Amino acid sequence: MLAVSNLTINYGEVQAVDSISIKVKAGELVSITGANGAGKSSMLNAISGIRAVASGKIVFAGEDITGLPAHQIVRKGLVQVPEGRQLFATLTVRENLLAGRYSNSSFLLDNVIPESLIQRFPVLGERLNSLGSSLSGGQAQMLALARGLMNHPELLLLDEPTLGLAPIAVTEVFDLIAELRDQGLSILVVEQNVRQALEISDYAYVLESGRIVLEGKGGELLNNSRLVESYLGVAQSD
Ligand SMILES: Nc1ncnc2c1ncn2[C@@H]1O[C@H](COP(=O)(O)OP(=O)(O)O)[C@@H](O)[C@H]1O
Ligand SMILES: [Mg+2]
Repeated sequence: MLAVSNLTINYGEVQAVDSISIKVKAGELVSITGANGAGKSSMLNAISGIRAVASGKIVFAGEDITGLPAHQIVRKGLVQVPEGRQLFATLTVRENLLAGRYSNSSFLLDNVIPESLIQRFPVLGERLNSLGSSLSGGQAQMLALARGLMNHPELLLLDEPTLGLAPIAVTEVFDLIAELRDQGLSILVVEQNVRQALEISDYAYVLESGRIVLEGKGGELLNNSRLVESYLGVAQSD
């Protein structure tokens, strides 16, 4: 479904991503983990067309989308939920959901929030008229995810969906991501919460300084001694 090959991204003299290749197969949940500054967001932003690439190729659903503008990429079903949620604090939950749709959506004129979305996110359904600023961190992340789903993704790109959340909300978000995958959605998620990300991932890549240093099935990486040493640590082990 998504094949990124030899992707390189520069910020001036700084090479943020150095010839990275990754794949997401249809229906898979794939994670990219790694420390702050490893190049994870740069990769997602390049895939969704927000960030220019220096070289490499991005193929989505058989089509070369390298260099296409973001508004064309989202229409193809590649939908990103950005780092930091990027909600409108002064708009209501309902308005945030409606405002998050891309402009040529067939739903633009009806101002209807699908019942299926409310059923999936009952906590938002109860708060449709509350301001974005009144939500807890976990609720805000659910709203950001729901807003992404309003755009009918074929492949959902999630940038640090659990960053800054309380442990119980972290678990809720991971449960939801796994549930969406179980229902057939393809997902590429960037996470610093390595253990929980690997636990739900079909496949995972570990980035260090713009390069892939490890990759494999989620469960296999959890047992990889190098990964355990570098990212999971003794203190976090069960
Ligand atoms: N807008 C920018 N201008 C210059 N350097 C940037 C910019 N965004 C990111 N970088 C640099 O690129 C590298 C990768 O950043 P990023 O993709 O945000 O990493 P991550 O998401 O893994 O934390 C870092 O060294 C960061 O400092
Ligand atoms: Mg980032």
